[in-house]
Amino acid sequence: MKKGLFITFEGGEGVGKSTQIKLLQKYLAEECGLPVCITREPGGSVGAEEIRNLLLKGDTSRWDRLTELLLFSAARRDHLVKTIWPAMERGEIVLSDRFADSTLAYQCFGYGFDETLYHQITALYQMIAGDFKPDITFILDLDAETGLMRSRQRAGNDEQRFEEMQLKFHQNLRNGFLTLSKKNPERYVVIDASRSIDDVHRQIVRHLSEKIIL
Ligand code: TYD
Repeated sequence: MKKGLFITFEGGEGVGKSTQIKLLQKYLAEECGLPVCITREPGGSVGAEEIRNLLLKGDTSRWDRLTELLLFSAARRDHLVKTIWPAMERGEIVLSDRFADSTLAYQCFGYGFDETLYHQITALYQMIAGDFKPDITFILDLDAETGLMRSRQRAGNDEQRFEEMQLKFHQNLRNGFLTLSKKNPERYVVIDASRSIDDVHRQIVRHLSEKIIL
C-alpha cells in the first residue's frame, strides 16, 4: 500500500499541535507543492467523529477504562479504513493530530503505568492496524501545568473530559510520551513546545527535511 507518508503529532493538552499542523500543511502544500491531508483523533471520519462525541463529552467517569479503550480503538479503525489508508493510497502526506501513541499515553501511562494493559493496548492496535505505523511522530513536549493552563483558556470548548483529569494524570502522560520516544528514537522526534510558534515550526521542517527528501 505504502505510497504516501503518515506523520502524527502527539503531546499533552495545550501543546499547540493543531497550530503546528496548519503551518506545516501550508508549508508542504504551498512551498513544496505536495498533496496534504489533515486529520485528527479521535475522529477524522464520519463514524469516528460520532464516537468522538461519546468520548470527549460528559463526566470524567462516564466510561470504565476498558470501554474507553475499545471506543478509541473502534474510532481509530474507522479512521484508518475511511480516511488514512485511502489518502495514503492516493500518495498524500497525512498529518494527524494525535494517533495511537495518545492511547498508550492517556489510557495507560496517564492512569498509572500498568504493564498488562500496555500489552493489551499494543495487541489491540495490531488487531486494527496490523504492522501499519506512522513514518514520523512529533511529540510536542511541554510541562503539564503550562499546557493545561493554555488549553483551559481556549474559549467555548465543551470537550473537556480529559482536561478535567487531575494534574498527576497529565504529568504521567507527559512522562509516558517521553518513555515511548526513548524506546523508538527512529520514529519519534521530541520538540520543546515552550518555544515560539515559529521556532517550533522551523524545527519540525528541519527534522522532516533530514528524514525525508522535501
Ligand atoms: P482534543 O480536543 O482534540 O484535544 P487536544 O487539542 O489536546 O488534542 O481532544 C482529544 C482528547 O482525547 C485529548 O484529551 C486526548 C484524548 N485522547 C485519548 O485519551 N486517547 C486517544 O487515543 C486519543 C486519540 C485522544
